[in-house]
This record gives sequence, C-alpha cells and structure tokens, in this order.
Amino acid sequence: MTAGENATPAPRDDAIDDGDRVDDRDVLRRLRTETAAEHQAVEDTLDLLDADLTRERLVGALTRMHGFWLAAEAGLDAWAAAHPADAAEVDWAARRRSHLFAADLAALGAPAAVDRTPLPDVADTDQALGRLYVLEGSSLGGVFIDRHLATLPQLSGTARLSCFSPYGARTGQMWHAFRTVTRHRVTAAGGDADRLVAAARETFGTLARWCGAAGPEQAPWTQTPSRRGHTRGNEDVA
Ligand code: HEM
Repeated sequence: MTAGENATPAPRDDAIDDGDRVDDRDVLRRLRTETAAEHQAVEDTLDLLDADLTRERLVGALTRMHGFWLAAEAGLDAWAAAHPADAAEVDWAARRRSHLFAADLAALGAPAAVDRTPLPDVADTDQALGRLYVLEGSSLGGVFIDRHLATLPQLSGTARLSCFSPYGARTGQMWHAFRTVTRHRVTAAGGDADRLVAAARETFGTLARWCGAAGPEQAPWTQTPSRRGHTRGNEDVA
C-alpha cells in the first residue's frame, strides 16, 4: 500500500463542504464533475502523497505550481482592475497566493519560478470565477498534502510550507464564501454557467499539461506516478 492510499481522505460528504443540497445542474456540482479528469491528471502527475517524495521532486512541483499561480493571478489581477466590485465580492485580494509559493521555495533553498504557464486573458467575471475555482479548490486537497508532508522523515528539517493550505483554520469558511458568490452569480446575477465551467476546464487542463500530464514525454522532474485511487472522492458526483 502506498502512502497515497494511506492518506486517502474520507469521501466528500465527510470532508470540507458547505452542506448545501443541490441538483446535477448546480454550477458547483458541474465544476467538480466536469473537471474531475483534469484534477486526477494533476494529482497523479504531481504525486505529492507519495511516501518517497524527495525534496528535489517537491521543489520541482512547487516551481511548476508557482509558474502557474503567477500566470493565473496576473489574469485575475487584470480582471479585478476592470471589475472591482465583482473582485471585492469574492474577496480576490485575500486569495492571492503566488507570494506564498515564492516564500516556500526560498525556505527550501530554491529560486522562484521563472517560467509562467501560458494562460488566456480573463474576459469577464464568469471566466474569473471558473479560474478561481481551480485555485481555491486546491486549498481543500492542500490540507491533506500538508498533513502528509509533515509525516515524511526526509523532509523533517524543512519549515512548514504555507502554499498548500494558506487559510489554515479558515479553509472551510473561504471555500464556502467562494461557493456562495459563484452560485449566486449563476442563479441571480446573470452569469453563464457554461462559460464559467469552460474556463475552469481550460485552466485545469492547462495546469495538467504544464505539470507534465498527458504529454508524449514526461517532464524530467516527475517520476512515474503511483497508481493510487482518487483522493477527491469523485464517486460522489459520478
Ligand atoms: C497534487 C496533489 C493533490 C491532491 C492529493 C489533491 C487532493 C484533493 C482532495 C482530497 C480534494 C477534496 C477535498 C475535500 O473534499 O475536502 C481536492 C479538491 C480539489 N482540488 Fe485537489 N489535490 C491536489 C492538487 C490540486 C491542484 C494542484 C489543484 C489546482 C491548482 C487542485 C484543485 C482542486 C479543486 C478545484 C478541488 C475542489 C473540488 C470540489 O469542487 O469540491 N488540486 N483535491
């Protein structure tokens, strides 16, 4: 049994959730279902729940993630400048996180990312919320990743990282607030669920490729992913 299996979290209903009961067309449910394959690809490729995760591979993963966050946040900053009220509603300023990746890389003795993931501009608030879904949802899995990293003897001399679960005890609260704004956008503010979900899929798919998934040649800093089960509990939305 791999560490990933040991660390497999409880199904979604027992995990961080806002407890809403929703139907299949709910935009949050669609986001989760329709990006499940991309999430799995990212998870498998990064393989951060591996018991044998080396410092070098952790640095490689953080560097890739930092390059992605820099690009994703640049697009969202431009959107926030054009749509300040929408950005304030979702508390965009409090959700910026690329500086945490830079700080964690520095704590690991590594330089900040230089290369940025190629991502399209964010045209409107639907696309912004789709992109933000990918960024914000990662704080849920981040709780499990953090917990796992703390158990690895090979990383015992490393300071606690902050990029995976930036909100600490407020993780559930921040996720709930994001979900509320996103659902309200679609049900009561004229948002287009298809555009929102498409933006999330594009963002997630780009991240997966950036991390080395589904390419003919695997990125040199990755290793063959372990064959773990899903940690995200997708059985819930199959
Ligand atoms: C690499 C290792 C990763 C693991 C092991 C992992 C694991 C998980 C787990 C266990 C959950 C569900 C948490 C819960 O229900 O409380 C989750 C949710 C999520 N993760 Fe990841 N994750 C990883 C990486 C990422 C990355 C890099 C991103 C995006 C940047 C991401 C985006 C998401 C999203 C959007 C959700 C929310 C799903 C929903 O709608 O409920 N994950 N992840």
